Amino acid sequence: MNEEQRLQSVQVKGPEPDRKVEKDYSKYFQSVYMPPSLKDAKKRGKEQVSYHKDFSIDEEFRNMGVGRKFYIRTYGCQMNEHDTEVMAGIFMELGYKPTDTAQDADVILLNTCAIRENAENKVFGELGHLKQLKTENPDLLLGVCGCMSQEESVVSKILKTYSHVDLIFGTHNIHRLPNILHEAYMSKEMVVEVWSKEGDVIENLPKSRLRKTKAWVNIMYGCDKFCTYCIVPYTRGKERSRRPEDIISEVRHLAAQGYKEIMLLGQNVNAYGKDIEDLNYRLGDLMDDLRHIDIPRIRFTTSHPRDFDDHLIEVLAKKGNLVEHIHLPVQSGSNDILKIMARKYTREHFLELVAKIRAAIPDVSLSTDIIVGYPNETEEQFEETLSLYREVGFEMAYTYIYSPREGTPAAKMKDNVPLEVKKDRLQRLNAVVNELSFEALKPYEGQVVEVLVEGESKRNPDVLAGYTRKNKLVNFRGPKSAIGQLVNVQITEVKSWSMNGEMVEVVNLEVKV
Ligand code: 5AD
Ligand code: SF4
Repeated sequence: MNEEQRLQSVQVKGPEPDRKVEKDYSKYFQSVYMPPSLKDAKKRGKEQVSYHKDFSIDEEFRNMGVGRKFYIRTYGCQMNEHDTEVMAGIFMELGYKPTDTAQDADVILLNTCAIRENAENKVFGELGHLKQLKTENPDLLLGVCGCMSQEESVVSKILKTYSHVDLIFGTHNIHRLPNILHEAYMSKEMVVEVWSKEGDVIENLPKSRLRKTKAWVNIMYGCDKFCTYCIVPYTRGKERSRRPEDIISEVRHLAAQGYKEIMLLGQNVNAYGKDIEDLNYRLGDLMDDLRHIDIPRIRFTTSHPRDFDDHLIEVLAKKGNLVEHIHLPVQSGSNDILKIMARKYTREHFLELVAKIRAAIPDVSLSTDIIVGYPNETEEQFEETLSLYREVGFEMAYTYIYSPREGTPAAKMKDNVPLEVKKDRLQRLNAVVNELSFEALKPYEGQVVEVLVEGESKRNPDVLAGYTRKNKLVNFRGPKSAIGQLVNVQITEVKSWSMNGEMVEVVNLEVKV
């Protein structure tokens, strides 16, 4: 923790639940919280990232959770899911037991997402529902964490409208969970601890992983790209990379525990290593080192096309445990829109990058993220997105209607595109996405694919479900003992988004070194 954070970490309490609430809330978080300001955020310098390897639970908190249960509801991306695993790890070290129902819990946390408005609305809706549980059980602690708690407007709204909330903490405060819980038990007031400035990487935090086959591993935190629509650089802070030796040792450890797949996580993984000044070591170098670890599959998400360098492509082309699937968000096919999004590449640059990747990895599968209905997007600009989608031959996409996020530059842009038009564009894009997904799956009919079996299918417990190296969902009948294993499945039927098949045999687990 640097000096600035130390000052910011002063615990600030909100109003008591039933006390009359004043209108000006700024005093409750002015010393711990800075609103997402582009001006301040862009002032980000090269200040030193401090690494901490000394996380431990204070003796005084050790038995805090004995006889108590926790429940965490997670919204949003894989980064959030992984943060939930860390918080679950901390809860368990404090003696709490997990429960999968909110009704049964002594502490409920909502780990929130701020990326689009509907994600936020879901959380506010849930906070409303949970009020009833607080009334039934006044000892229950209800907390809000994750990206929404980094937003000033959200903290104000919770203080004002959801005063039954007991604690709010930010994405940079997760390791402080024991202290925050302690404070919440001790006081009747809402505890708010949100550092708006970051600069630390904290190692050896406990983790209680949700799954036994696939594991998430953070390689970096934050984002410095400032795409004009995106709230992430404000809620997750500046880019901070973990040291390679810490990542490699975590992956080795997971391999030894029997994990079969690693997903490396970062908001912009292609910037990995840029901030570590004493090392000339980037994502390509990391992948090249991880390639030698005896684990069948390694992936990463999410990529920014601008930092995707030739060395990384060269390393990915060596394959082995590096899978031939790349998620490469393009956002739009129009140069004008890309420019106002501040993506800092053009359609032509993107196509060049795709050509380079395909030349090195001919069987690569590409997926993407796309936003439609950006402020003032014209029909022609939207059609450029459709044509780029076909030209690249993406096999899958996450598609979104643009959602203005307070504090971002795009939120200030006037927008002349009616919602109906945006919805229509999303539907037309999704029709192309479905069509190309089906086309990509068609050639698999009759083929045998390697599937990492995750568990029973959601719809039918007699059917198992898993994913191929290219992240295609396969449902098939097979023995429960196949769960967690790599098996061969012959594809018998292809749909738009998944395939059905019959299990053939267990794959011999050999990874080339
Ligand atoms: N509105 C809509 N979609 C957004 N995304 C990020 N910010 C917004 C926003 N304000 C999408 C982008 C990103 C994905 C994770 O979410 O496509 O790649
Ligand atoms: Fe947001 Fe990704 Fe752009 Fe970073 S690179 S600002 S996380 S969309």
